[in-house]
Amino acid sequence: MSDYIIETHDLTKRYGNQTSVSNLNIHVKKGRIYGLLGRNGAGKTTTMKMLLGLTAPTSGEVTIFGEPFHGNEKKILPRIGCLIESPGFYPNLTGTENLKIFAELRGLKNPRYIKGALELVNLPYRDKKLFSQYSLGMKQRLAIALAVMHDPELLILDEPINGLDPIGIAEVRDFIRELCDTRGKTILISSHILSEISLLADDVGIIDHGNLLEEESLKELEAKNAKYIHFCVSDAKKAAQIIATTFCSKDIQLADANNLYLYDTALPVARINRSFIEAGIDIQEAHLCEDTLEDYFKRITGGEGIA
Ligand SMILES: Nc1ncnc2c1ncn2[C@@H]1O[C@H](COP(=O)(O)OP(=O)(O)OP(=O)(O)O)[C@@H](O)[C@H]1O
Ligand SMILES: [Mg+2]
Repeated sequence: MSDYIIETHDLTKRYGNQTSVSNLNIHVKKGRIYGLLGRNGAGKTTTMKMLLGLTAPTSGEVTIFGEPFHGNEKKILPRIGCLIESPGFYPNLTGTENLKIFAELRGLKNPRYIKGALELVNLPYRDKKLFSQYSLGMKQRLAIALAVMHDPELLILDEPINGLDPIGIAEVRDFIRELCDTRGKTILISSHILSEISLLADDVGIIDHGNLLEEESLKELEAKNAKYIHFCVSDAKKAAQIIATTFCSKDIQLADANNLYLYDTALPVARINRSFIEAGIDIQEAHLCEDTLEDYFKRITGGEGIA
């Protein structure tokens, strides 16, 4: 049996001529937070909807808890909590009353489920405020409370920090982390905000135009970010030749007549500098640089950043 809580096999969704999700193979490990990162329109919501049977895949398969989702929906779905688009809360009822309706539907008789879920998202139990009077952030918290109320093993949260202010974002991040660390939940979250994913996720899947470009742990992703030495010199071409011949390295990129990037960071910079000076090359700068995750994202998606 596979070690993954969620596994997709060439999952594809086409709407007419448009392929929204293309041969996606994601692997969500038990007890970890998996961040699905992608720009607007990348295919995050469509993927999550397919995982939950809210939309049928055009082709491909989903395996959840080691079993094919198709045909086992009734067994699998009660073990999942989800937040995909806003749930249909009643505007003229309070948050607690709203949760009570859903609790009854799910057969959760004990009020501790409602109390616990509200506590987790920092909303008051039995407050008089109606849902229609809630701020956007409070509405979002109530939606998350609904997702976790029945204590599911797996949470699928589509952009859970949408509409929250910075303090709200930090709180949601903390309780998502807590759900994973202290209660052993497996969590799949999506976001178009790179910094958010890098603060929260253990594993990251980068999706762009419906394709999964990368899937690895955040640690691996961070380690992959290129380190290089940037030389700003009077003659970059000549400097590149010296590095190639004297130091036997071809890991060089000539940016322009004066700027040169050396990706082989193990080479002795002091000796390289001396060789440049001996060859009559003036050095304005020589320093170690490191790409940020943002640079990396731009590089692999070949486009704009995603701060
Ligand atoms: N029901 C639908 N009919 C037709 N096209 C759709 C439908 N749902 C989604 N799409 C298209 O599929 C693509 C992926 O959409 P999706 O909502 O999955 O992206 P997303 O990554 O969730 O974006 P966002 O960050 O804006 O929420 C988009 O081009 C979208 O227009
Ligand atoms: Mg979406």
